[in-house]
Amino acid sequence: MKASVIHEFGTEDVIRYEEVVTPEAGIGEVLIKVAACGINRYDLYLRMGALFTDIAFPHVLGADIAGTIAAVGENVTGWHVNDPVITAPGFPIDPAEWDIKPENLAPSFEVTGTHHWGGNAEFVRMPARFVYKDDTGLAAEEVAAMPLVLMTAVHAVETLGEVRSDMKVFVQAGASGSGNACVQVARALGADVATTVGSAEKIETAISAGASRVINYNECNFADNLLDWTNGRGVDVVIDNVGASVLEENLRALRPGGIFVNFGLVGGFKATLNIRDLFFRQHQLRGSFMGSIDELHRGLALLRDGKVKAIVDRTYPMSETAQAHRYIESRAVRGKVVLVP
Ligand SMILES: NC(=O)c1ccc[n+]([C@@H]2O[C@H](COP(=O)([O-])OP(=O)(O)OC[C@H]3O[C@@H](n4cnc5c(N)ncnc54)[C@H](OP(=O)(O)O)[C@@H]3O)[C@@H](O)[C@H]2O)c1
Repeated sequence: MKASVIHEFGTEDVIRYEEVVTPEAGIGEVLIKVAACGINRYDLYLRMGALFTDIAFPHVLGADIAGTIAAVGENVTGWHVNDPVITAPGFPIDPAEWDIKPENLAPSFEVTGTHHWGGNAEFVRMPARFVYKDDTGLAAEEVAAMPLVLMTAVHAVETLGEVRSDMKVFVQAGASGSGNACVQVARALGADVATTVGSAEKIETAISAGASRVINYNECNFADNLLDWTNGRGVDVVIDNVGASVLEENLRALRPGGIFVNFGLVGGFKATLNIRDLFFRQHQLRGSFMGSIDELHRGLALLRDGKVKAIVDRTYPMSETAQAHRYIESRAVRGKVVLVP
């Protein structure tokens, strides 16, 4: 089969589209013919060697897979060749931990395509337990754009952020893949949502996601803008995927007793926390990584029911994976980028 392969860590230039041995479905596994595979920032970090150093090369990235069953391994029931499927974008890779709930707290939980080959290929093998029927009725490119960010958004916004319909919620980077999904999920929960963008071209993407207030942070201070929006009180919840560069202002915009959820670090990962403000203002700081399989299904139900839309900015042939990574790196992306083999 053809696959986008990395043989070492580095820039986009280490990605090569080449012939590799087609995997076979092992016991308890299915082989999936990949129809489309979404890209996440995570893939870029993994490719750079910023997350793990123990990746065995050659390696194939890719967590968000939509496709069809190509072969069924031993001890697998219920799946037939050509069934349309979606795979879990993260799961415990140690079968001994498959019954731990929520799955994202299992010690071996990791993003699909981390230590095992992912979906940047014509075929991928997956444990049948973490493969689900695709009943969205959407094109494969749209389906593949969403599982990871939806799992993340339901966990960060609904579970950890405790977002409810009477709340004012602030989501960082509303045109980013994950931020856009968080805006949509917060809106689906009935909240009033504000978000930031870094350029005028991204405003429409954030509005379409359901944000009632879109702040271009290059034109004004976003925390001042949010305090103005809430008559000086501060927002109920901050959902942050930017990290260190905006921590102080995120917390300045959060009301006393409000909840702060972080799941990203594009703006850096080491910040200074004002402890006096933390306890006087009684902020609750929560770290969020991916989500449970139940949260994934809740997210996919929102997609199937049309309450959340797949926002696909660009689709690239898989042979152009390096260009796709370059585009994401450029910060121009609005929504998601998807590869098609
Ligand atoms: N923990 C989890 O479960 C989880 C899940 C999904 C994503 N994430 C994390 O969330 C972050 C965003 O991921 P994504 O896939 O949504 O990324 P993305 O689609 O590539 O969007 C990132 C956006 O962040 C904004 N940004 C603000 N400050 C930035 C900076 N200093 N450098 C680069 N971009 C900056 C940019 O938009 P503007 O130009 O509009 O500012 C940029 O387009 C990443 O750190 C990712 O690892 C974590």
